[in-house]
Amino acid sequence: MPPYAYFRKQFVPLAEAKISILTHALHYGTACFEGIRGNWNDEQEQLFLFRIREHYVRMLKGCRILKINIPYSADDMCQLTVKLVEKSGYREDVYIRPLAYKSSEAIGVRLHDLEDDFLIIVATLPAYLDADEGVRCCTSSWRRVDDTMIPARGKISGIYVNSALAKTEANERGFDEAILLNHDGHVSEGSGENIFFVLEGKLVTPPSSDNILLGVTRDAIIQLARNELGIETAEMSVDRTELYLADEVFLTGTAAHVSPVIEIDHRPVGNGKVGKVTKELQRLYFDVIKGKNPKYLNWCTSADSKLVKD
Ligand SMILES: Cc1ncc(COP(=O)(O)O)c(C=O)c1O
Repeated sequence: MPPYAYFRKQFVPLAEAKISILTHALHYGTACFEGIRGNWNDEQEQLFLFRIREHYVRMLKGCRILKINIPYSADDMCQLTVKLVEKSGYREDVYIRPLAYKSSEAIGVRLHDLEDDFLIIVATLPAYLDADEGVRCCTSSWRRVDDTMIPARGKISGIYVNSALAKTEANERGFDEAILLNHDGHVSEGSGENIFFVLEGKLVTPPSSDNILLGVTRDAIIQLARNELGIETAEMSVDRTELYLADEVFLTGTAAHVSPVIEIDHRPVGNGKVGKVTKELQRLYFDVIKGKNPKYLNWCTSADSKLVKD
């Protein structure tokens, strides 16, 4: 079965989904996107799409910011995604990439008087960060874009130049991931993940006002910590020093799952091993995303790879 895409209101083989080199979004980053995981459950032979509706609700907010008008509700997009995944027939974890974009073939920087379109791609994605052994991070010399520059609350394509600068700088310096500070020096997030700290027994994560993307995984972790471990998360600004003093640090994101941070700027986090709270949350999270915890099945949308629909 060839990989399929949803493109110009049709399901087509991925190889046939092509856009013009004049497409506005290609030149100016005028698009917003999502990353959604489908997690394969071997016993049930099903893919479970994790919190798909929340991803589309966030994407529609990004569309409002960018004046992208597409004739789909969050529910419409969920249905199209399930159909695409079922049609593609994967029997392994998948990564789904919806994109809403300024599709006009036009030169000129603006958001208005342009056409919009929406597409979905489904693909496999190798492990993004080492969730088992943990990752080594650096503080980036790049600052996180401020809400007054490009709203970080939207998953806006153009913003990812900021993330890419930080990620490549980190990798070229020998680290796995970058942690970005915001304009006033508070910890914001990783280049593609939210960040959590265990600080003096408390679970802490930066608030939206520190220019983070409000992560779907971040929200799941806050709920799992509260409901399953009885740990409340404080959403508060974190100083750079606290990166070095935290007992545990971990990153969360659709691509990165829950990835422990074991070293920051050449200093071990805690004792340099994956921490207890991080391990517990990882265990809970991996069960939940594969549809193995009945209490959280409302977060999982099943796509049956045995069905091949038109
Ligand atoms: C900059 C940034 N922060 C945080 C996240 C985590 O968000 P989510 O958990 O919704 O994937 C992502 C990934 O989408 C991201 O790109």
